[in-house]
Amino acid sequence: MPTFRAPRGTRDLLPGETPAWTRLERLAGDLAARYGYRRIETPMFEGTAVFERGVGEVTDIVEKELFRIAPRTDESEAWALRPEPTAGIVRAYVQHGMHTWPQPVKVYEIGPMFRYDRPQAGRYRQFWQFDIEAIGDPGPAIDAEIVELGSRFYADAGLTGVAVLLNSIGDPACRPAYVKRLTAYFREHDARLPAFERGRLERNVLRLLDSKDPAMAELNAAAPRLTDHLCSACEAHFAAVRAHLDALGVSYRLEPGLVRGLDYYTRTAFEYYVEGREGQQQALGGGGRYDGLVKRLGGRPTPGIGFGIGLDRLVLALGEQGATDATDAVAAPAVVVVGADPDDTVGRLRIATELRATGVAARAELGQRKLGKQLESAAREGAHFAVILGDELAAGDVQLRDLPAGSQKVVPLAELAREVARGHARHRHGIDP
Ligand code: HAM
Repeated sequence: MPTFRAPRGTRDLLPGETPAWTRLERLAGDLAARYGYRRIETPMFEGTAVFERGVGEVTDIVEKELFRIAPRTDESEAWALRPEPTAGIVRAYVQHGMHTWPQPVKVYEIGPMFRYDRPQAGRYRQFWQFDIEAIGDPGPAIDAEIVELGSRFYADAGLTGVAVLLNSIGDPACRPAYVKRLTAYFREHDARLPAFERGRLERNVLRLLDSKDPAMAELNAAAPRLTDHLCSACEAHFAAVRAHLDALGVSYRLEPGLVRGLDYYTRTAFEYYVEGREGQQQALGGGGRYDGLVKRLGGRPTPGIGFGIGLDRLVLALGEQGATDATDAVAAPAVVVVGADPDDTVGRLRIATELRATGVAARAELGQRKLGKQLESAAREGAHFAVILGDELAAGDVQLRDLPAGSQKVVPLAELAREVARGHARHRHGIDP
């Protein structure tokens, strides 16, 4: 057992795993750009109040899962690692007066989030999200556009069988009456509530509906549905979102029990699941509308909508479908620079450096081994060329050996980069052996 290990719930992404991540990050960035979203980077920690106000004080994310940073004695503000990016992005929207920009402001962010969760497969304390936000558009068309964007991301990533679950969770006009009914319902079943849930019944009853406690499943299934208590404006909005999704050919399933775990949501709420796994609490991604959040964080009333897609869970799901990348092989250098004089590391390194400066992937043999050994390892790692420094160096020449072809010729140093680039391009396009 090593003395030092990555903290519980975190993982090292080793070089064999990172190509899958790089691919998804590229895909996300390209897709976001195609839909008109620009990249934003907000800090990985914020004032704790941003999350308490934004996500909601009585939510699992803030009550149980926030990584609070021990305050320094010389600072009065308390900070926490971001459990999600939406609150920080909206804080930035307000701080930078983005309401004066053309609306909606469409941004995306890709990066690590932190939640003090109970670690298990697909649930980590540091995980990655691809996040999309459109701030300043009340919908309903953009709601559909964003749901479709998420679906397309999964499809482009190569994941099949992704189900979209959709719901509307009302707004401040219709929710208070529903909250009253729901509170009455849970009070009736007070005796069956786990202690923690009983504690937040009077403080934030909606959060009981997304409780992770298995003891709540049956009670929640029989609870009154928000969808049966929507006001006419929310009804109309929800109907229009569905009509837009239908027109785009995006299939979705209505899920009246879907409430999401964050307080900022209004109206449209959605989640992505691997088909058949909807019952488990492992959504691939989720999002929704948050028409009150900008105001909650100090801005003027501004609607918004977005999603967060968990990249860790996507990588896992791709693995389960056998759709992993075959790209974990170490990229072979085009050239290895070797030499007859084992001590001439300066000469080998200099030539490799010059080749790299022209864009060629080159490795210099930095060990002080015999030439035969140097050539052996160059061939073993799959290099195309070995540049051999020998007696010709005095005249400004080197030997260039085509390793797979077994041929060798003398090349002036001044022409080496061009010769290598030309030969390697032919090799890669399958013209050479
Ligand atoms: P969320 O549903 O809390 O939403 O998280 C979004 C996704 O992040 C989840 O569906 C899941 O894939 C991933 N995720 C969450 N927690 C973990 C974890 N402990 N380990 C691994 N993956 C995890 C939000 O965060 C909202 N900010 C989404 C949003 C953006 N709504 C509007 N705009």
